[in-house]
This record gives sequence, C-alpha cells and structure tokens, in this order.
Amino acid sequence: MLPSYYEFYNPVKILSGNKAVENIPFELDQLGARRPIIITDRGVAGAGLVRIIEKAFADTTLSIGAVYDETPPDSSIETVNTIAGIYRKTGCDSIIAVGGGSAIDTAKGVGIVITENSEDLMKFMGAEMLKKTMKPFIVVPTTSGTGSECTLVAVISNPAKNVKMAFTSYKLLPNVAVLDPRMTLTCPPKITAATGMDALTHAMEGFYCNQKNPMSDAYAGAAIELVRDNLVEAVKNGKNENARLAMANAACMAGTAFSNSMVGMVHGLGHAAGAVCHIPHGIAMSIFLPFGLEYNSVKAADPIGRLLVHWGGFDEYMKTPVAQRPARTVELVRAMKDTLYGLCGLPRTLSEAGVPREKLPEIAKTATGDGSLLLNPEELEYDDALRVLNEAYA
Ligand SMILES: NC(=O)c1ccc[n+]([C@@H]2O[C@H](COP(=O)([O-])OP(=O)(O)OC[C@H]3O[C@@H](n4cnc5c(N)ncnc54)[C@H](O)[C@@H]3O)[C@@H](O)[C@H]2O)c1
Ligand SMILES: [Fe+2]
Repeated sequence: MLPSYYEFYNPVKILSGNKAVENIPFELDQLGARRPIIITDRGVAGAGLVRIIEKAFADTTLSIGAVYDETPPDSSIETVNTIAGIYRKTGCDSIIAVGGGSAIDTAKGVGIVITENSEDLMKFMGAEMLKKTMKPFIVVPTTSGTGSECTLVAVISNPAKNVKMAFTSYKLLPNVAVLDPRMTLTCPPKITAATGMDALTHAMEGFYCNQKNPMSDAYAGAAIELVRDNLVEAVKNGKNENARLAMANAACMAGTAFSNSMVGMVHGLGHAAGAVCHIPHGIAMSIFLPFGLEYNSVKAADPIGRLLVHWGGFDEYMKTPVAQRPARTVELVRAMKDTLYGLCGLPRTLSEAGVPREKLPEIAKTATGDGSLLLNPEELEYDDALRVLNEAYA
C-alpha cells in the first residue's frame, strides 16, 4: 500500500565506472570552483588513492589548494574546525572528500562551518538547521558502505559528551558522487565486509521502517541484490573490479534509499555501541541487523517477508510459505554473517567484537536517546534495548 504522502529527493549526480575520477576537474569547473581542498585520512592516502585524484588535475587549469589527510576514525568537532581553518588560510573554494564515512562526514561538517561562517558546529545539530547553499562538494567514496555520498546525513562525534551528533539537511547532499572501482580495490577484507554489511543494513532498514515509500523501495531492493551477488566476492578477491564497482553502486543506492526512508533500531543500537565502546559502525550493523529484523517481524512482517525475494532470490521466496518468510530472511542474513566470519573474522556477536558485558546498560541507555528509533516499526524502550543487547552479546 502506498503511503498517503511521501517525499523523495536525490539531486546527486553520479559518475560510475573505471576512471570516473578523471572527470572531477570538469565537474568542479561546471560548479564554478577552481581550488578544492581534499579531505581524507592516513589509510586512504597511504593506499595511494589521493595520488590518483591529483593526477586527474595534472593537465588542467584547476589546482588543489590543500590536502588534509589526518581525519580520525569517527570525525570530531575539533577536526572539523582545524580543517576549516586550513581551507580559509589556503584560499580554497570547494571540497573533495576522499574516503569512507569518516572522511565524508568530516567534509560535510567542514562544509557547514565554512558556509555558515561559524565555529560552533553544535548550533546546527538536528534536522534542517542549515539555511545556506553549501560550497561545491564532490565525494569519492573509498569504502562501499555508508552511502554518505548520497545521504543528507552527517554523523560527527562529540568526544566531550561521548555521543555521536547527527546532522540532517538537504543542503548536505553532495553535488557529485564518483564511483570509481580503483578507489576501493585496496580496501582490506574485514573493512570491505563490515562496510558492505552497513550498506545492506541501510537497504534492509530502509525497506521496512516507517517512512518507506515506493521510490526508496526500488533503490533498496536493487541494492540488496547487488550486495547478495557481490559482497562475498569483493571480500574474497579485493582486486575484482566488477565486484568492487557493484558494491560501490550498492552502497550508493542503499544510501539514497535510507536518506529518504530513514533507518531504525539497528542504527540506534549501532550509534550507541559506537559512542560508548568505539566499535566500528559496519561491525555494529552486522551484529545487530538480524536482531532488528527479528524484533520488527510482527509489525513489519510484510516488508520483512518481501525482503526475501531480494536477499534469497525468487526461488527461495516462492518455496517459503508466507508466514515463514520473515524468519527465513533472518536466517539468510545470519548465514552471510557466518560466511564473512569464516572469510575474514568479521565479529558476529558483541563479545567477539570485544565489548565488555558491563557496558551493555550504558549502550542501552544511549540508544534510547537516538533519533533512529523514531521510525522503527516497534517501540524500543530501555529494557527492550538491554534484552536485545544481551542476546547480541552471546
Ligand atoms: N553520513 C551517513 O549517511 C553515514 C551513514 C552510515 C555511517 N556513517 C558514519 O561513517 C563512519 C564510518 O565510515 P566507514 O565505515 O566508511 O569507515 P571509515 O571511513 O572510518 O574507514 C575505515 C578505515 O578504512 C580505511 N580505508 C577506507 N577506504 C580504504 C581503501 N580504499 N583502501 C585502504 N584503506 C581504506 C580508512 O583509512 C580507515 O582506517 C562512522 O563515523 C559512521 O557513523 C555515516
Ligand atoms: Fe549505517
């Protein structure tokens, strides 16, 4: 059934294919920019990926104003302000983010501080607090996971308060997303697996949470099938360009889906586990996804059952009785977790991820304040969250 009203928006221009990066100077020129800052991190720069971008500028009249390669995992307010200072001092006029969600979200934070001309990022926390159009912004994802290249979300840590702050605004959507398989070939197997499960979670939660709509369903369903067919190959054989490009497309489509449908308790618990125990986002998603599906299998039985056609395939869907489809979806997600554990040791439980059991109450308490719970089909109170965390621990 269609929702009585919904909105769907994705103005991001997508460039997908080998050597797509070569088109960045042209795209910047079209946006009226000539001097970008590149925001990345040590791992990405160390893998030689910034050099690929720099080469694309070699025979052009544009120049790279600065490269900041010290973004920490999980961006913070301090980092954002430091980079904004470099941007101003070096006379940059645009931003290129090269990296995973940490670099991309940091770049979104820098965009806010520069555009709003304010040092106080916290003032803009929450939904639609940005009034001005951002500087030209191009994103080159180097993990296939967060989909941040196509989302209106930025997640930035506030270490003083031990929470992750969420910013959502249509103004945070980049102008261009560049999906070039050369940028993910070096991503290590465990990060490939974890980030791939993040993409899967965006697509699955986007498919069953309360703001779902026919447009987001189309993106989510296609993303799930790409993950189903390519994640294991990308983990096993990282140099397979076809699998890498397919996963980059999957993450981008899943990002587009959830940017419009929003996510639910899997992200609520994951943000809390990330804030309290610094467990990487993708690993948290992989651990909690089957629990989120199970927890919502009564109220959202129909969409979770229909996930099976995308995740298990048509034959699997047809041979499974309607009432058993949600449980079968959960079973097949758990099977993927086991496969990834076998291939690269991706943790399946909180204990395997090294989370101390005594932290569970704090994670549960933090999760209950997370905005992702608002659109989860079932309510999740503190006691429910603690119960799920205990189940996910063992
Ligand atoms: N804005 C959104 O819509 C959104 C959605 C989900 C998650 N997030 C946020 O994204 C962050 C996580 O991002 P992530 O999972 O992409 O990880 P990440 O950006 O933290 O990167 C993980 C590690 O992988 C390395 N790496 C990345 N690409 C590489 C490559 N191609 N070759 C070699 N090494 C590479 C990095 O150097 C880093 O050490 C979290 O802060 C999370 O909250 C944001
Ligand atoms: Fe996510």
